[in-house]
Amino acid sequence: MDIPSSRWHLAIEKRRSRRHFDPNLPIGRAALAALDMVCNQFAPFPHARSRLVTESAKSVFKGIIGSYGKIKDAPAFIAFIGNMDAPFVQEEVGYTGEGIILEATALGLNTCWVGGFFRPEIVASLIEVSSKERVLAITPVGYAQESESWEEKLMTDFGRSRNRLPLSKLVRGLPRERWPDWVNVSLEAARLAPSATNRQPWSFDVQDDGITILVRTMRPGFNVSKRLDCGIAMLHLEVAAIDCGCKGEWEFLPSPQVAKFKIRS
Ligand SMILES: Cc1cc2nc3c(=O)[nH]c(=O)nc-3n(C[C@H](O)[C@H](O)[C@H](O)COP(=O)(O)O)c2cc1C
Repeated sequence: MDIPSSRWHLAIEKRRSRRHFDPNLPIGRAALAALDMVCNQFAPFPHARSRLVTESAKSVFKGIIGSYGKIKDAPAFIAFIGNMDAPFVQEEVGYTGEGIILEATALGLNTCWVGGFFRPEIVASLIEVSSKERVLAITPVGYAQESESWEEKLMTDFGRSRNRLPLSKLVRGLPRERWPDWVNVSLEAARLAPSATNRQPWSFDVQDDGITILVRTMRPGFNVSKRLDCGIAMLHLEVAAIDCGCKGEWEFLPSPQVAKFKIRS
């Protein structure tokens, strides 16, 4: 499936995590079918896949420790699954999962990446997961309650969700005055990517022929790989680049680098 770049670029601006859903607003049949289709069709890597599950969403999120990740009344969820034999599985799952999240956003639905606080054994009982695979993250999906409850506001503040670091703290390489337009727009989109606890673990190296994403911080990881966050930023960067008319290819790189987006000449 080709990336619907303008649709997903708009969704990047619009998306933010929501955790409390409206129990009186089920997802309609057409939206469910569209979600299921994107889960099946947006699978750019052989080792990462997404599955929509419309039953037992409550039991997957139930019993969560503490308030971070407390998801209420989600009518469905999507599981993001990776084959752990693949060397870049975390990046691939982040990239793939964010495509599904952006399509859900474009469909008017709300989501929230959940990396730590879910019950993988219950997810695995609801979908087929092979011995080589792991459910690395899930997202609830549905229509959020119109206004944020105090509990949700608290979590948003905890993740300082709307704050993002300025590009000046994240970018090295070619000086800004030499950046072509697509670099500006793509880095801005990557900067807005969601990450676990909003840690934004990425930095960017701008070169004449592309942009490399690197892991910026060595701080501990909350049980969620920073490379998964970086996979999410990869997708944001590419969506914006394509929307600017600039296509390219990803090359995965060893740590602390993540991958280079090399533009097609
Ligand atoms: C890989 C990943 C894992 C996450 N895990 C959780 C989680 O377990 N619980 C939760 O409430 N939010 C989780 N989040 C949501 C982040 O806290 C949120 O994306 C971040 O604070 C930025 O806010 P925004 O998504 O509204 O832009 C996760 C996000 C990512 C990308």
